[in-house]
Amino acid sequence: MIDNGRVAIAGEEIADPGRQFDPAGLVFSVDGTDWVYQEKAYLMLNKPAGYECSHQPKHHASVYALLPPPLNGRQVQSLGRLDEDTTGLLLFSDDGQFIHRIISGKRKVAKTYRVTAKHPLPDTAITALLSGVELADEPGLVVAAGCERVDEKTILLTVTEGRYHQVKRMIAAVGNRVDALQRVAIGRLPLPEDLPEGKWRWLSAGEYASLLATEPNPA
Ligand code: URA
Repeated sequence: MIDNGRVAIAGEEIADPGRQFDPAGLVFSVDGTDWVYQEKAYLMLNKPAGYECSHQPKHHASVYALLPPPLNGRQVQSLGRLDEDTTGLLLFSDDGQFIHRIISGKRKVAKTYRVTAKHPLPDTAITALLSGVELADEPGLVVAAGCERVDEKTILLTVTEGRYHQVKRMIAAVGNRVDALQRVAIGRLPLPEDLPEGKWRWLSAGEYASLLATEPNPA
């Protein structure tokens, strides 16, 4: 890119690929687009419905199509997956250790979903979700770490595991079904209200720190 005259720093075209720069706070441009130098990439996407969290999507577009080529070029990966029809907060990184720390089952990082059910959710359903429900074809109980009513058909459900279709199966276990599912927080990091669907942005230093400060749940 430098040989082809595409890279500039502070408006000056860089001609020498061997030139050294202090990376701290370095801003460079490629083809006129500014980039802040990032040793590792940490970003969030407000995932729209109709995208699969896969590099080889089967029926819909890939979430990676929503990221610019330089981020795919450095092979960022989503931290876990959301279903094709689930919307909301999805994180990406190219830092393997960070990805592992956040998605490792052992750390039990809480994920909060806004669940809109097809039918009204009675208080007994909320109590059942908080005391544990049995998922079809799986032994044991899955217990919600939190469950708050928003309205008759809507709850904020917090889970600490990441089983296949977990939220949909938990709602099925209380005799209902999910009409719309949006992830609204991961640990202490909420989906920002000003991030439109389909858009990504870098995590701020504070957001990155808040994710790593997410304590594993005691049990
Ligand atoms: N649980 C689900 O059922 N689907 C998701 O996309 C995420 C959690």
